[in-house]
Amino acid sequence: MKTQVAIIGAGPSGLLLGQLLHKAGIDNIILERQSPDYVLGRIRAGVLEQGMVDLLREAGVSERMDREGLVHEGVELAFDGRRERINLKTLSGGKTVMIYGQTEVTRDLMDARKACGALTVYDTHNVQLHELKGEKPYVTFEKNGETVRVDCDYIAGCDGYHGISRQSIPAESLKTFERVYPFGWLGVLADTPPVNEELIYANHERGFALCSMRSKTRTRYYVQVSSDEKVEDWSDERFWDELKRRLPAETAANLITGPSIEKSIAPLRSFVVEPMQYGHLFLVGDAAHIVPPTGAKGLNLAASDVCTLYRILTKVYREGRTDLLQKYSEVCLRRVWKAERFSWWMTSLLHRFPDTDDFGRRIQQTELDYFLGSEAGRKTIAENYVGLPYEPIE
Ligand code: APR
Ligand code: PHB
Repeated sequence: MKTQVAIIGAGPSGLLLGQLLHKAGIDNIILERQSPDYVLGRIRAGVLEQGMVDLLREAGVSERMDREGLVHEGVELAFDGRRERINLKTLSGGKTVMIYGQTEVTRDLMDARKACGALTVYDTHNVQLHELKGEKPYVTFEKNGETVRVDCDYIAGCDGYHGISRQSIPAESLKTFERVYPFGWLGVLADTPPVNEELIYANHERGFALCSMRSKTRTRYYVQVSSDEKVEDWSDERFWDELKRRLPAETAANLITGPSIEKSIAPLRSFVVEPMQYGHLFLVGDAAHIVPPTGAKGLNLAASDVCTLYRILTKVYREGRTDLLQKYSEVCLRRVWKAERFSWWMTSLLHRFPDTDDFGRRIQQTELDYFLGSEAGRKTIAENYVGLPYEPIE
């Protein structure tokens, strides 16, 4: 087989890049190791920044999102029994966020890809990348017992944190930055109406809690748990009780509970590799970086990497601007690190750390009080939450 861009992974990064390139007339093939149903079965985040919403519109896959998604103009922080609203729209100069699940984004992208006839090979085995530093890179994979070769100009490594792309780069060519947090998030998905019209991030002595949603009839709630907790030890009843204890009294009183339709524990981690490229291979999304979920930046960062690679590749193919390729990593990393900083900061501000003493607790309360009591502080939170601008490619 032969294509211009070989894309490894059919998560949101791979599918969105494939769609944008296809629309621009750049041929691409996606190789995915799982089945479509498996990919759609993963429950992930659901807050889209303004920049990602605009990119989905540009990709021509926004019709259902624009119909069914919920535009949120604000977000709430709760602590010490207080609830404080951040008016995202007025504080950010008119930007908002869209509540629309990653699963739905993925489904829309899969449907669009099927409709345009571009090739995705699912259920592949043993994907391997070759000649990354040469002029003629290629990818091999196995399917139904046969080995297939794909010759290409460039490879986009969109295969997530556990993927093969990052592992194909010699270790001495990469620098890794990492922080593992001593707790996880226990999440429950339920078909219940949201407790509040907007998201509530709560800092409580018993630990962090988050009230989120997927729609007006489906909710997603989280509580911070220690790293060694087992999901089997959390009945629905125990989860709802713990959540209520961490919310302000009147919020807890309004909470409507119901049977969970999904329940899982996710560890929290910050992770970045530099650089995000090696020869003709470009790392995109979770393959290159992970953020803790506080602030909902993971999916949105994947989208900004996709946008950068897409804009560079269109200039390469239309204008012969191969000089831009070497800028991919530095352009992405400037935005990646700002989102890493914000996610780390939100995590530090809102969670209970095992080693936090009384002094640390007062500092945390005071930091919240200070940021919320100042116009500049509120603006800082708002502009990061709605998403920092994408850097233009010259
Ligand atoms: N060969 C082929 N496909 C692979 C391989 C491999 N060796 N390894 C992993 N994959 C596939 C996975 O099965 C998955 O479908 O790559 C895809 C990677 O998708 P994600 O992990 O979802 O990563 P990404 O597309 O970058 O999405 C951004 O942001 O909100 C966060 O973690 C959340 O998934 C989200 C991410
Ligand atoms: C979610 O709805 O799953 C969600 C929302 C906001 C976050 C993280 C997760 O910061």
